[in-house]
Amino acid sequence: MNLKKLYQQVLLDHNKNPRNFKVLENATHYAHGVNPLCGDDFHLFIKINSDKIITDIGFHGTGCAISKSVSSMMTTQVINKTTEEVSQIKDEFITLLTKEITNQEAKKILGHLTLFENVKEFPIRVKCATLIWRALEAALQNKMEKKVSTE
Ligand code: FES
Repeated sequence: MNLKKLYQQVLLDHNKNPRNFKVLENATHYAHGVNPLCGDDFHLFIKINSDKIITDIGFHGTGCAISKSVSSMMTTQVINKTTEEVSQIKDEFITLLTKEITNQEAKKILGHLTLFENVKEFPIRVKCATLIWRALEAALQNKMEKKVSTE
């Protein structure tokens, strides 16, 4: 299967059956990500333990196929990793979509997320793919102070 076909398959699968599409009742960190240009809107909930490991994560809200599938895949890639490792994945993903990644080690860190590299060909969609990562960046810095309802 070529990479474009695999990308389409992964995108469809994660859009139709998003992983970790849930509100975390016991989240320790939270952020709200909005793309004002289109109105896409996600709430991101993270549970981080005292060793700074992400033990659970959930996202909820509405978005296009790209923003939703990237969000879904992001949650599967960051769970059980330290906040430091996750920050590195986030940086590499944003670099992948905005610059050139030539470093094979960086691609290894991203795993299947590299499938989204061709989004770069459609500059207007780059924000779709980075929306949840910006929320992740904010969530890692924001401790959750109150429970947020997405209803
Ligand atoms: Fe809004 Fe993709 S169209 S984030």
